[in-house]
Amino acid sequence: MKYRYLGKAGIQVSELSLGSWVTFHTQAGIDSTVEMMSAAYDAGINYFDNAESYAAGKSEEVMGAALKKLGWRRGSYLVSTKLFWGLHESPNEQNTLNRKYLLEAVDASLRRLDMDYVDLLYCHRADPSTPIEETVWAMHNIIERGKALYWGTSEWEAADILSAIEIAARHHLHKPVVEQPVYNLFQRHRFAPEYERVYKEYGYGSTTWSPLASGLLTGKYNDGVPSDSRGALEGLEWLREELTNTERLAKVAALKPVADELGATLAQFSLAWCLQNPQVSTVITGASRVQQVHENMKALDFVDSFTPDVMREIDRVFGPA
Ligand SMILES: NC(=O)c1ccc[n+]([C@@H]2O[C@H](COP(=O)([O-])OP(=O)(O)OC[C@H]3O[C@@H](n4cnc5c(N)ncnc54)[C@H](OP(=O)(O)O)[C@@H]3O)[C@@H](O)[C@H]2O)c1
Repeated sequence: MKYRYLGKAGIQVSELSLGSWVTFHTQAGIDSTVEMMSAAYDAGINYFDNAESYAAGKSEEVMGAALKKLGWRRGSYLVSTKLFWGLHESPNEQNTLNRKYLLEAVDASLRRLDMDYVDLLYCHRADPSTPIEETVWAMHNIIERGKALYWGTSEWEAADILSAIEIAARHHLHKPVVEQPVYNLFQRHRFAPEYERVYKEYGYGSTTWSPLASGLLTGKYNDGVPSDSRGALEGLEWLREELTNTERLAKVAALKPVADELGATLAQFSLAWCLQNPQVSTVITGASRVQQVHENMKALDFVDSFTPDVMREIDRVFGPA
């Protein structure tokens, strides 16, 4: 495993990391979570991602319980969670980054995780109804109170990130240091030119999500929806539509020989492709069982395989980025 600095922040994250969306609690109980986190940690992963909204808070509980069983030294790993959607139906607790919500929600997440602090705390989406200045102050105060060490954004427009950085600089507050954007062979827009200042000038880090487009890029949906896959889960009908889109499936089929040529599985090829972008700090992988963790870790062997010829093949299949 190699480690990359989280942008200009002083901490290093493993090139591959592990997240818990859909999987922890819904598909994996505590024992299976222990098994997957353990395999990831043994492979060198030092960063585990979560969010209050995953399985309505249960995903944080499962990760917290697993960490307790694993008993690793706290300094040896990083944990993140994300706030925005909320778990309670009330005007100030949903789809918001207001000060009251953030200060209360971080405490609730820490209780579920059974931790004193998280290493990274993200604003899971932007909130156009709360002034960015209010959110920046609240995130600064959370850090000052020792409940998070760094803060970041997820799926924010470049202009909003720049605005948050500039507000923090003006008031000498803790700046956001990392964005969590979607990034995979189908979705390459979050490193578009408008983000250049964010990453290059301000040295933002990035922890990218859904590198396999929820499993589509493994090729597992090319012969229908496997009954034990994310695409078969109740409540994810919106996702099933994306996973069975014929145009997308044709692209995955066309990518297979390109991955075969390198001796990589489609999953390994697609994960390695994310990592060949030097602006990516870590690729957050997902897994519903330990075998997937083992397969995905081997993606690291292919990061240097993206020659101009291979990149041309990718453009041929997916169109230019
Ligand atoms: N900030 C955000 O808004 C946001 C949004 C989404 C995710 N995230 C973060 O990013 C993490 C990763 O996202 P993701 O889970 O969507 O990643 P992904 O890599 O696109 O999808 C992971 C899923 O694909 C399947 N899979 C993975 N490896 C496989 C393999 N080798 N062979 C066959 N199937 C395989 C598994 O699902 P099945 O076995 O069930 O098919 C697995 O749970 C999340 O856990 C979360 O921490 C953040």
